[in-house]
Amino acid sequence: MKTKVIEIHSIEEIDKIKEAAEGLKAGELVVFPTETVYGLGANGLDEDAIAGIFEAKGRPKDNPLILHIADQEQVLDLVKIIPPIGQDCMDMFWPGPLTLIMERSKIVPDSITGGLETVAIRMPSHSIAHAILKEAYIPVAAPSANTSGRPSPTRVEHVLEDMMGKVSIIVDGGITDVGIESTVLDITGEKPVILRPGGITKEDLEELLGIEVDTDQATIAAEEGLVPRSPGQKYKHYAPKAEATLFAGNLTNVAKEVNHRIAKNPSKKTAVLATTETMDMYQGMDLLINMGSREHLEEVAQNLFDCLRKCDEEGIEVIYVEGFEFQGLGVGIMNRLLKACGGKVVLGL
Ligand code: TXA
Ligand code: MG
Repeated sequence: MKTKVIEIHSIEEIDKIKEAAEGLKAGELVVFPTETVYGLGANGLDEDAIAGIFEAKGRPKDNPLILHIADQEQVLDLVKIIPPIGQDCMDMFWPGPLTLIMERSKIVPDSITGGLETVAIRMPSHSIAHAILKEAYIPVAAPSANTSGRPSPTRVEHVLEDMMGKVSIIVDGGITDVGIESTVLDITGEKPVILRPGGITKEDLEELLGIEVDTDQATIAAEEGLVPRSPGQKYKHYAPKAEATLFAGNLTNVAKEVNHRIAKNPSKKTAVLATTETMDMYQGMDLLINMGSREHLEEVAQNLFDCLRKCDEEGIEVIYVEGFEFQGLGVGIMNRLLKACGGKVVLGL
């Protein structure tokens, strides 16, 4: 397939926005930037177009997709009812990196929900994504635009690596802002439950909604350093080619342990993923990458997937990664790192 790359700098470039929207309406695969990561979009009501997403990504068929919309009106056709808490969430957090799980209506294809009776919906805040979604005015299914299992794309170069020749259009909108995917919140039960921590934190949700929010068991298990076992989490995620290990605890002890391991195994090509505050604490590695400042976890989230991909580019064999506290955005960052390390983690240093 021939892939056309369209660079869009602003929503004033109406012809380009229209071209992307027309592609989606015609059943083509169109990659576009969102505020979280790049999405691999297709008409979410068109079975053939949806099948194309699974093929381009090599994604298992039972992993459901998020429908992306431009205004609240579009939600009405896609769900049975909007629970009161759903309306609050939409009013307070949309557009933005929050995906809501609600009971689905009949028009939502089984291939979107993976056979579940619920559907995931989100309204991105990225201006170009919003403009394309508004112009197309169809629910657009869009998983992250990476090959299944690889780190999600936060720069157009990542998309070109994974999707060139597999999609009709790639919209280049520069670096994405948040850097990790949206928070997935299930609002079908009595209490909202976070299924995937992301750009909107548990603290944000509880403060603005004024109610308690739970985190699902698989995520908690992963946070405790256990290998996730629940069905939704069974696939390999964000995995770099190298063997990665996560270290958490006192940062001086972390550096000591990592330096010890590097010294013990000098023949392996090794990378350390550190932070601004700890960059000068490591020695002997082949590649030292700064994920960002501990004082500004938004920086770390934004850089995270790019750091993992850089290790692949450099042919790194072993990666040692510094961990973060399970608090605020740190929860979403640790969720991605734990998966990237396949559950290989040294805690309590
Ligand atoms: O930020 C994002 O959400 C990005 C951008 C492109 O919007 N999209 C994204 O999509 O991360 P994807 O397909 O990579 O992740 C969707 C997540 C998966 O963990 C999936 O299992 C979950 O949402 N999901 C989708 N529908 C669901 C449902 N009905 N019930 C539970 N989880 C669902
Ligand atoms: Mg993904």
